[in-house]
Amino acid sequence: MRGIWRRPPPPGRASFRVEGFSPPPTPERRRGAPKVVIVANEKGGVGKSTVSALISTAMMYHGARVAVIDVDLRQQSLSHFFANRRRWLPAAGVDAPIPLEYKLTEDTVALADADPASMVSVFERALVLAMEAADVVVVDTPGGNTPLSKSAHLQADLLVTPMNDSFVDFDMLGAIDPVTLKVLRPSVYSKVVHDSRKRRAEYGRQLDWVVLRNRLAATETRNRERVGAGIEALAQQIGFRVAPGLRERVAYREMFPFGLTVADLSFGLRPAEVSVPRRAAQEEVRDLLIALRLIEG
Ligand SMILES: Nc1ncnc2c1ncn2[C@@H]1O[C@H](COP(=O)(O)OP(=O)(O)O)[C@@H](O)[C@H]1O
Ligand SMILES: [Mg+2]
Repeated sequence: MRGIWRRPPPPGRASFRVEGFSPPPTPERRRGAPKVVIVANEKGGVGKSTVSALISTAMMYHGARVAVIDVDLRQQSLSHFFANRRRWLPAAGVDAPIPLEYKLTEDTVALADADPASMVSVFERALVLAMEAADVVVVDTPGGNTPLSKSAHLQADLLVTPMNDSFVDFDMLGAIDPVTLKVLRPSVYSKVVHDSRKRRAEYGRQLDWVVLRNRLAATETRNRERVGAGIEALAQQIGFRVAPGLRERVAYREMFPFGLTVADLSFGLRPAEVSVPRRAAQEEVRDLLIALRLIEG
């Protein structure tokens, strides 16, 4: 496993492709070191790509230069989302910000089968360039512990872990005693985060871990409270923060074909095909960014 770098990219042509547009850096936009945000959970289908898209688009409206890297080589959901955005916006004659996307390769499925060292090296080079160009780099990861996911955990300043509001997903964090809510044992994934933290600490770097409950149902009050109590107990013992969750909302999924999120809609842009967004969804996203300390409240 390689170190935690902040070193210049190696000479020569990178094998990855950059898509999108980012305004040139101006002195007032350079507000300190870029932040690497990874969205990860060893489970699939918990909202990683949805949350990655939300954070990326919302942060552009807060004036950040955003770069994205999709290291889920098989699904490529975030990459497809932004490809849709790059196609839809000009076709609809709409002006909205587009992040820089660092695509690791044309053939992501082949890269997924490549040897881990060369895979990680492509990613690290892309990340170095992304960090030079952006204030925030959002990395969407696959479910499962792949070499790229491991590397992304090592490079992250902020780890956002969405989870479904269920005790089945809860196990991904750790096992707790149902009566005392004491941690019986941290999960394999918690150990991965713990190890990444330890490794980063050797380089004087921190890793802020925030767990986010996703797809909260309006009706399941009792389940929500029990899961919530368990998570708060685990948060203290395992060492993560808990962000206010995201509700289950059609607004979070219906705009994928346009590459849009509720963050775009708050600025007066709306495809004719979608329902009017609820203000509550936009506030939920804002509350999330505040909890993630990406913007100030
Ligand atoms: N808060 C939400 N409300 C409604 N649908 C959601 C929400 N979060 C995720 N989804 C949907 O759940 C499915 C899985 O989400 P996705 O972001 O692809 O998860 P992952 O990247 O973890 O596999 C997708 O169909 C997505 O549109
Ligand atoms: Mg995904």
